[in-house]
Amino acid sequence: MNELTSAINQHLATEFQAGPTDLALSIWLREKDLAGFSAYMPAKSQEERDHAARMIACLADSGEQVELPTIEAPERSWPSVQTLFDQVYDKGKGFTASINHLYAIAETVGERSATARLLLDQPFLEGTALTHVKGGLSGARAA
Ligand SMILES: [Fe+2]
Repeated sequence: MNELTSAINQHLATEFQAGPTDLALSIWLREKDLAGFSAYMPAKSQEERDHAARMIACLADSGEQVELPTIEAPERSWPSVQTLFDQVYDKGKGFTASINHLYAIAETVGERSATARLLLDQPFLEGTALTHVKGGLSGARAA
């Protein structure tokens, strides 16, 4: 397996794990009677599954091996809403760094078609929308 295929498969594993994790976040928020925040997370979960599907298509359409990962049971409780969204925000930053790593490998090995597909299929900053949530929570707490 070449370096780019291996890196895409590693990223695929994180996308697979993110879907159930976002559902767990949604459940915890609902249990805390935070229905608005809770309602936001299933869409994030679906988004991660969509990202995983696009990674699979990118690999399979290129004749590369797809490794389906094992999914761990997600965390089920957090000390606070702020902690939860800090974790979600950090996860988004990690995804962005991982995607940037994939671009770098694709460019290094001259796989422009992979770069183009990854650019089209992934947001540049997965945590962008969460920046506003995180900022809003921090502002609310400071007020
Ligand atoms: Fe993602």
